[in-house]
Amino acid sequence: MATDAVALGGAELTSRPIVARLHEWVTTVDHKRLGILYIIYAMVFLMIAGIEAIVMRIQLIRPHNDFVSPQVFNRMFTMHGTTMIFFVVMPVLFGFANYLTPLMIGARDMAFPRLNAFSFWMTAFGGLLLYFSLVGANGHCWSPAWAASARRSISSLPCSACAARE
Ligand code: HEM
Repeated sequence: MATDAVALGGAELTSRPIVARLHEWVTTVDHKRLGILYIIYAMVFLMIAGIEAIVMRIQLIRPHNDFVSPQVFNRMFTMHGTTMIFFVVMPVLFGFANYLTPLMIGARDMAFPRLNAFSFWMTAFGGLLLYFSLVGANGHCWSPAWAASARRSISSLPCSACAARE
């Protein structure tokens, strides 16, 4: 009897609609699932930063190449470096830490599991915001390349693109 119950449970688990399973992942506070989400998230950004590295490599493949403009090259450089460190290396570390630490110390979960889930989603939306500003700002004052430059971001002057429109 007990075996039947387990078998039924397994069948139910696999036949649940995809939306229900997705909802479970999105609303999860489980440290293992959050660890996996962090690592998947980092892999997505690894692909994006890899494409940026390829763009830089093509540009640098021979002298005086004009595959991309100097402005676009600078954007690729900033986004590649920022993405690799903050959206690949760090999330991978967080992922392993989330997955393994509670297991290693024999705890049921991380302390404050909801805060843990909130942190993951803040990280996720942070990455989206960074890339939204790259695509949407197109070199204006509020683009990451502009805001990442201390000289420019502490200045009250608009960027050249905005100044030209004024
Ligand atoms: C763990 C972090 C990083 C990884 C895994 C990584 C990975 C890579 C890879 C695989 C390439 C292509 C290499 C090639 O084409 O020869 C590359 C190129 C490049 N990366 Fe990174 N990168 C990281 C961090 C950074 C940072 C922090 C910066 C600077 C802020 C940076 C700047 C560059 C530049 C300028 C290139 C083009 C160089 C070239 O192709 O000659 N990278 N990166």
